[in-house]
Amino acid sequence: MPVDVVFFGPPGSGKGTQASRLASTLGIPQVSTGDLLRSNVARGTDLGKVARPIMESGALVPDDLVTRMLKERLEEPDAATGALFDGYPRTVPQAEELDRLLRIEGRTLTAVLFIDVPDPVIVGRLVKRAEIEGRADDTPETVAARLRVYRDKTEPLAELYRKLGLFHRIDGDRPVDEVAFDVLATLNRVTGRVLA
Ligand code: AP5
Repeated sequence: MPVDVVFFGPPGSGKGTQASRLASTLGIPQVSTGDLLRSNVARGTDLGKVARPIMESGALVPDDLVTRMLKERLEEPDAATGALFDGYPRTVPQAEELDRLLRIEGRTLTAVLFIDVPDPVIVGRLVKRAEIEGRADDTPETVAARLRVYRDKTEPLAELYRKLGLFHRIDGDRPVDEVAFDVLATLNRVTGRVLA
């Protein structure tokens, strides 16, 4: 039975960190639209050229472009038995597309894990990452824009997934190991299996 999990939450909440940890634990690929887009930017593809200024402003790349990229990623063999979605969906049309793409394969979402972290903690984490890694969209102005976009476009998805009974809150303001333990415990409970 495929395990398809959405890591949901504001920028800097730890979606990528936790998706990557779980990917190693379960052997299921992390599918990060942010990483896929950054790879396109680094390679200077047509998609990367369009995405770069949008990402640097903190806005969202258009749904159709991101969804086409995601679809191609899901067609790769390693995603046939499940995927850990990190940063997708971010809008209602993206949520509808994800549902459609999974259904074509006879799959449905296992769970949506909301990594809940207060805004001041997020800002602190991203300021620190800016100093260490220099990610182009971790400037104070862009972080503020990303948080606004999250509240406006992405947060409304929480209600949709709550109604579907898929939404599970994880306290993300704890050490990475503790959050990871809770993530796995939640998935074991939801699936009724011992995944790891
Ligand atoms: P994306 O790369 O998805 O960025 P994001 O959602 O803003 O998320 P981050 O990667 O900043 O944070 P995260 O929640 O993954 O946390 P992380 O684990 O990295 O998207 C970038 C841009 O691409 C978007 O703004 C948009 O333009 C575009 N884009 C992407 N997907 C799109 C889509 N679907 N549609 C349209 N546009 C899209 O952790 C953050 C930091 O905190 C790290 O330094 C980490 O080490 C640290 N940390 C993590 N967990 C903890 C912890 N428990 N304690 C202390 N520190 C921690």
